Amino acid sequence: MSTVDYQISSEEEYQKAYQAALDNPENFWSKIAEQFQWKNKWNKTLEWNFEEYDVKWFLGGKLNITENCIDRHLSEKGEQTAIIWEPNNPKDEVRTYTYNQLAQEVNRFATILQRNGIKKGDRICIYLPMIPEAAFAMLACARIGAIHSVVFAGFSAKALCDRIQDASAKMVITSDGLIRGTKKLLLRNIVGEAIADCDSIETVLTIRHTGDEVETNHLDKWYHEEYAALGEGEIHFEAESMDSEDELFILYTSGSTGKPKGVVHSCGGYMVYADYSFRNVFQYQDGDVFWCTADVGWITGHSYIVYGPLLAGACCLMFEGIPTYPTPGRFWKICEKHSVNQFYTAPTAIRALMGCGNDYPQNFKLDSLKVIGSVGEPINEEAWQWYSKEVGKGNCPVVDTWWQTETGGIMISNLGNIGEHIPTYAGLPLPGIQPVLLNTEGEIIEENGVEGLLAVRHPWPSMIRTTWGDHERCEQVYFSAFKGYYFTGDGARRDEKGHYRIIGRVDDVINVSGHRLGTAEIENAINAHENVVESAVVGYPHDIKGQGIYAYVICHVFPEDEKALRKEITAITSDIIGRIAKPDKIQFVIGLPKTRSGKIMRRILRKIADGTSDQLGDISTLLDPSVVEEIIKGKK
Ligand code: WT7
Repeated sequence: MSTVDYQISSEEEYQKAYQAALDNPENFWSKIAEQFQWKNKWNKTLEWNFEEYDVKWFLGGKLNITENCIDRHLSEKGEQTAIIWEPNNPKDEVRTYTYNQLAQEVNRFATILQRNGIKKGDRICIYLPMIPEAAFAMLACARIGAIHSVVFAGFSAKALCDRIQDASAKMVITSDGLIRGTKKLLLRNIVGEAIADCDSIETVLTIRHTGDEVETNHLDKWYHEEYAALGEGEIHFEAESMDSEDELFILYTSGSTGKPKGVVHSCGGYMVYADYSFRNVFQYQDGDVFWCTADVGWITGHSYIVYGPLLAGACCLMFEGIPTYPTPGRFWKICEKHSVNQFYTAPTAIRALMGCGNDYPQNFKLDSLKVIGSVGEPINEEAWQWYSKEVGKGNCPVVDTWWQTETGGIMISNLGNIGEHIPTYAGLPLPGIQPVLLNTEGEIIEENGVEGLLAVRHPWPSMIRTTWGDHERCEQVYFSAFKGYYFTGDGARRDEKGHYRIIGRVDDVINVSGHRLGTAEIENAINAHENVVESAVVGYPHDIKGQGIYAYVICHVFPEDEKALRKEITAITSDIIGRIAKPDKIQFVIGLPKTRSGKIMRRILRKIADGTSDQLGDISTLLDPSVVEEIIKGKK
């Protein structure tokens, strides 16, 4: 491994690093940043203001993240495997790429982008399955200085269209088809539907993957044809010189209001933190095989499939399929087959596999595992214990990693086997991260053994810079609730020793199978049905998904066939957002509990949905308290 001195390996080192970062954050980060390859060193480490939000790291520095992910590793580990790709169908061939091969793929891809008119600063939307080309595409964008916006290929045409329009993307990179388990989607056709309303798109670059026939038009270029046109020889594409603060990518995520927002990450700070957090949390050692099961459509895939591992010169596994295909032993089979050392997945997958019995993990050799991780939602004790015992065989630390799209990298987590591992607790903050708990007045709660609102009081390199095209929204969402802090939207508990346990969102965001959805976003989709007057969506506890979606719906005409209308409403949420937004339960109601000022009291709806309607508390401030009884009677 390229030698670094910032990989912490003991509790004492952790304490020392934490204190050093607290005493002098600029010095701490500057010493880490120096260990990367810069085209031009920065002249100031940090400038920040949380009142009128503005953060800049490594000012004046010039770099290209792909030179750090690829080029700087070539002399020592050009022939080492960078990416192992495991296909959906275990009978199909595994593909591997060495760092030398990765360099060629990315240089070629960047050349293709350039030949198609892409320049620094252009936005490119990536809508792809989990294939190596997804990583190549992201890195090619970064190499040429174009800003990628990866859209998870489970989102609908409408959702894709919204994201393309918001970023005025010039190109979409997609594939003919996608296959996960036994389900197939013709992505190019979905793109066709999406871009019918997108004037900004000049080119659709399609990668042949499933070989299905798809509809194309005058905007199309086939990737394999462009690739062949480059000839056989080695190609070098000079990496664009980027300012530390130039945008690296946009990633859309849901909030409590309005449309999804484009979280913007910058080149320099994101690079430093993705690598730093990867090495420390997973305690990656040279030669290890790291596997993160996320999709590159989410931040987890950005930071811990593509950027973090490649920056560290790691060998990273990428999986196209799903945990249960062809059997619920698939994850464990892959761990055995590739001798995976660090495994990183989501509680929803753990719970689903736990439900399939212990035989599956027991039938495979899992002794290569050294660290197993969890991300995306709170992990309940039962799932934590099962994961630790059946997968980790009782001798692998479980790292429960708390972070967000906006934070760019893991913020609170145990570092490998360092320190105390308490089930359901994420643990201590990484050195350089200064979380605080606030009360509802926005005052810091100093003592331990308390619950509060989780905020951060000092900037870190990979924090969100803005929301694309709307800086005010960024300020408003993250920096206005509590002056002087970045507010996470989560509630947390801190134990006597300072370990954090994340309780969950305190805003109108729900977390379904680790996917973040705004209740307002789902309501808007439901309300698009012609027979719907109004709706209110809340989350409720769900055994596998963590949270399920419960929708209360008022209709113009009460449906004669409730089942049919439910189906139509489900279909509309799939069309407007994607399959992940389908309500689990739909209850038709005659009214919603509203205050006199017209605000829906979601607290009441949440209690009804989770079966605790005997603890509603005071409902006398409602405009019409009788609707509550009606709703309780009709509970699904
Ligand atoms: C929200 C962020 C960060 C990658 C995936 C999700 C919840 C995330 C944990 C965890 C409890 C967690 C929070 C957070 N969350 N990790 N380890 N324990 N909750 O990214 O889509 O931006 O969602 O996910 O509520 O705010 P995201």
